Amino acid sequence: MKTIIEPFRIKSVEPIYFNTVEERKLILENAFYNPFLIRSKDVLIDLLTDSGTSAMSSSQWAGIMHGDESYAGSPSFFRFEETIQEITGMPLVIPTHQGRASEKILFSILGGKGKYFLSNTLFDTTRANIEFSGAEGIDLICEEGKHPAIPAPFKGNMDLVALKQIIKEKGAENIPLCIITVTNNSGGGQPVSMQNIRAVRTICSENNIPVFIDACRFAENSYFIKLREEGYNNKPVFEIARELFSYADGCTMSAKKDAFANIGGFLAMRNEELALKCRNLLVITEGFPTYGGLAGRDLEAIAIGLREVMEENYLQYRIRSIEYLANKLIAAGVPIMQPAGGHAVYLDAKKFLAHIPVAQYPGQALVGALYLHGGIRSVEIGSLMFGKYDDNKQLIPAQLELVRLAIPRRVYTQSHIDYVAEVVIEVFNARDKIKGLSIVEEAAVLRHFTAKLQQL
Ligand code: F0G
Repeated sequence: MKTIIEPFRIKSVEPIYFNTVEERKLILENAFYNPFLIRSKDVLIDLLTDSGTSAMSSSQWAGIMHGDESYAGSPSFFRFEETIQEITGMPLVIPTHQGRASEKILFSILGGKGKYFLSNTLFDTTRANIEFSGAEGIDLICEEGKHPAIPAPFKGNMDLVALKQIIKEKGAENIPLCIITVTNNSGGGQPVSMQNIRAVRTICSENNIPVFIDACRFAENSYFIKLREEGYNNKPVFEIARELFSYADGCTMSAKKDAFANIGGFLAMRNEELALKCRNLLVITEGFPTYGGLAGRDLEAIAIGLREVMEENYLQYRIRSIEYLANKLIAAGVPIMQPAGGHAVYLDAKKFLAHIPVAQYPGQALVGALYLHGGIRSVEIGSLMFGKYDDNKQLIPAQLELVRLAIPRRVYTQSHIDYVAEVVIEVFNARDKIKGLSIVEEAAVLRHFTAKLQQL
């Protein structure tokens, strides 16, 4: 088989500014070992997130010019609405400025004390919005998903036995929603199988619990189903996505991922009564229902991006380019989550830095080392992001200590990725020198964004 090439040419470029290890040492100290506090011009390869960082296509930029900025009834909204209706089969579409705005609206309505939201794994903003409402989020990831080193085709699946058990334990009447995150971002960008989604649907239907999809990366998940699940090999991704959404009552979406947009999101659903409540809240928080926190031009860019993302040349290149990086790291003995995720490679920091105890945040220490050595910005998805304290202020660690190398869509070339592999491998070979960290300052919620740390 020949090399799978980037299915695009480059029309416009942005410079990367180079700096030295000495300069980065100072920058890292000044940023208190927190990548969110580093300025982007000080980063060589930015793998902090795949969110809002996509390169838009020439069609999307053309769409920007077509955007109609009318307050009410803009044709751009109707193109947006129609595209989402077509892909999801859901008639009620509510635009928001990004994924977490959709979550805030949804959980303000459905959340509250004594309520439980079940999921394969809730993303950090989703969990935070649930908890902010007074409710509790419960992750029910399948057994395979808990072991980074063991490859399995659908490590994002929900544990169905645990799901039934929890429903019995908490009472179906206290569970307003079950949320399936596709792909499972916090669990390694791993896909959920159609079979699992169907089974979750059946269990929830038996208990009268609605199912929502956190659809940020629905196209990547659909492509994994095509590659890995029996019966889907010859189906177009569009049809697979349609089927995936057909099992859900609604979805939340961040268009900053699988819609190649720099901003945007939406809620879509089938229930009129819920949609009415959402729109009422939308008007006071985001905007009028035909723009909801977005400009008309954003609605156009999203509508076009949602169709482009299902092009199979693109998805083949996308999934392959992540796997390419993963394979280089595996060959060098670097411990990573296997198989590669759909949007990122996740380093297993617990194994990578086995000499650093979990309470000294090995993931965050590794993030610092990658920046220092090669100017690569990554993000910890471990105990800094998800850790809690017990009554004695002792850390209750996260299940996994991962470092995510998220690959922005259509942005970096193969040589950028080769460079990333070289840096990670060099850091791995000198890992004994890396030291743990302690927290100096932190916020009560989503502390990883602003926490200040120091080297031990
Ligand atoms: N759900 C998932 C699975 C996500 O990955 C994200 C964002 C959101 C919801 C929230 O969407 O950012 O538009 O408000 N993930 C980004 C990331 C931030 O880096 O993974 P948002």
